[in-house]
Amino acid sequence: MGFNLGDEFPNFSAKTTAGDIKFHDWIGKDGWAILFSHPADFTPVCTTELGMVNKMVEKFKALNVKLIALSCDDVDSHSKWTEDILAFTKDAKFDFPIIADPKRDLAVQFGMLDPVEKDSKGLPLTCRAVFIVGPDYKLKLSMLYPATTGRNFDEIYRVVQSLQLTAYKKVATPANWQSGGDCMVIPSVKKEELATLFPAGVDTKTLPSGKEYLRFTPDPSKPAKK
Ligand code: BEZ
Repeated sequence: MGFNLGDEFPNFSAKTTAGDIKFHDWIGKDGWAILFSHPADFTPVCTTELGMVNKMVEKFKALNVKLIALSCDDVDSHSKWTEDILAFTKDAKFDFPIIADPKRDLAVQFGMLDPVEKDSKGLPLTCRAVFIVGPDYKLKLSMLYPATTGRNFDEIYRVVQSLQLTAYKKVATPANWQSGGDCMVIPSVKKEELATLFPAGVDTKTLPSGKEYLRFTPDPSKPAKK
């Protein structure tokens, strides 16, 4: 089974390196969460990924986002692995939990098994899934990478900025957008609403079709430029 965008993410129970959790309680009220899975403990790409995330925890916290990893080994193994990750990244503490999924129960339930990679017993490993869950516990974005391709966590940070902006303002973010860059007015906004909704102005591009859908406006989450 997998998930569709907008589905409520299951309120699953799990053992983690920070104790037992129920997912929604762990997220809390009004927060965002990112659950990201890994093929296995003590593997090279995963070690670089978890090290990178550990360095970015504070940046995500500033966006009101909690992070939780999952790997298909047990809590003891995860705890020993974090010592390696800390040694590799020269960090003093490991600042987010890792879910234990040794029997692949969650990996199967969430559609996260890698079709190719197997462990030493021939059991399938989890792929590199990313699930971004909003304050309503609904799935806002998912990504699936194979075990052999590490993720770009700057991109995951960027998409959270876009998800949070577009959840509250009637804009969408264009190709390669970065926070603070111009946004697109979404197609459902009528021409007569533009001045009220976008006091910083809207630049509507002239196109061969004559259709006025390419409408740029400054990032509405940033202070207006004087
Ligand atoms: C890794 O994390 O390096 C890895 C894990 C499984 C297959 C390939 C790479």
